[in-house]
Amino acid sequence: MLSELVKNSAPLPLNSKLLILGGGFSGQHIAALVRALGTHVLCSRRRLESHGANLAFDSSKKTLLPNQALEEVTHLLSCIPPDKNGEDPVLSTLGKQLKSKSLQWVGYLSTTGVYGDCNGAWVTELDTPQPKQQRSKRRLACEKAWQESGLPIQILRLPGIYGPGRSALETIKTSSNKMIDKPGQVFSRVHVDDIAGATVHLINLAAKGIWPKVINIADDLPSSNLEVMSFAAKLLGKSLPPVEPFDIAAKTMSPMALSFWQENRRVSNQMLCKELDYSLIHSNYQSGLKDCLVSSN
Ligand SMILES: NC(=O)c1ccc[n+]([C@@H]2O[C@H](COP(=O)([O-])OP(=O)(O)OC[C@H]3O[C@@H](n4cnc5c(N)ncnc54)[C@H](OP(=O)(O)O)[C@@H]3O)[C@@H](O)[C@H]2O)c1
Repeated sequence: MLSELVKNSAPLPLNSKLLILGGGFSGQHIAALVRALGTHVLCSRRRLESHGANLAFDSSKKTLLPNQALEEVTHLLSCIPPDKNGEDPVLSTLGKQLKSKSLQWVGYLSTTGVYGDCNGAWVTELDTPQPKQQRSKRRLACEKAWQESGLPIQILRLPGIYGPGRSALETIKTSSNKMIDKPGQVFSRVHVDDIAGATVHLINLAAKGIWPKVINIADDLPSSNLEVMSFAAKLLGKSLPPVEPFDIAAKTMSPMALSFWQENRRVSNQMLCKELDYSLIHSNYQSGLKDCLVSSN
């Protein structure tokens, strides 16, 4: 919830101006926090008419940003995924333009999919990424492009993102699909409030010269999909849809859905929460889903 986040966050350095490219789900939440902390924020979406858009940026149009939009921008965050050729839409279109500005910090929202399958083991930023899926290989290539861009980059790796309006509560409310049971399989998650809170925390640390190149933003409790769905159903006072063993469900799954179930890892947040002292607002899905319930009422 924004009020709690604001209480837990320190304002950005004086005279900062943040440009968020890709003001979708995470981008809008980060923008709301940074604005509430008193910093000027601009958000791009592909269409100016979209909710929360201050400017239009669509890499397929190959046009630069108006120079006026970049005036006095000190911090930049890209929330835009790789394009279908695996190129980074921001760097391929705006790379030169951005390099001509004196940015203090550039963040890139990536995914923990780059780690690949870990057989359920914990994975940290020190582990070498071993992506197996094509989309994760594309993502790692974009991370590398940002790291080699010459910009003052920090890579923020995210597991499954959820929050008000986009959580297991919506799945239980709207889906009649069977729930899948794959014993031993877990997924890591992060509530969107913690993406916003951690981003602000990292920007403030970067201003003090504390700047890990890559950082995971995840909660404390990787858990099975079934556990999360069961808790969501309980919160809504609904019964859980029928449960089906993974081996049977897999026979009719799309290749995309199947690929999610082929990777099993626990994403460590020790660097963020222990070394860099970030306090999670929602350390587990129980806390996060309760917030989603309250926020959507
Ligand atoms: N969803 C997850 O569980 C998850 C997990 C880990 C990492 N991630 C990654 O983390 C980032 C943020 O996730 P999210 O769920 O907040 O993303 P999101 O809501 O899908 O927002 C993505 C943003 O990128 C913009 N965009 C997409 N293609 C573009 C292009 N070619 N040119 C310009 N803008 C473009 C979209 O524009 P419009 O606003 O016009 O649609 C949108 O604002 C993404 O890179 C995502 O892949 C997501």
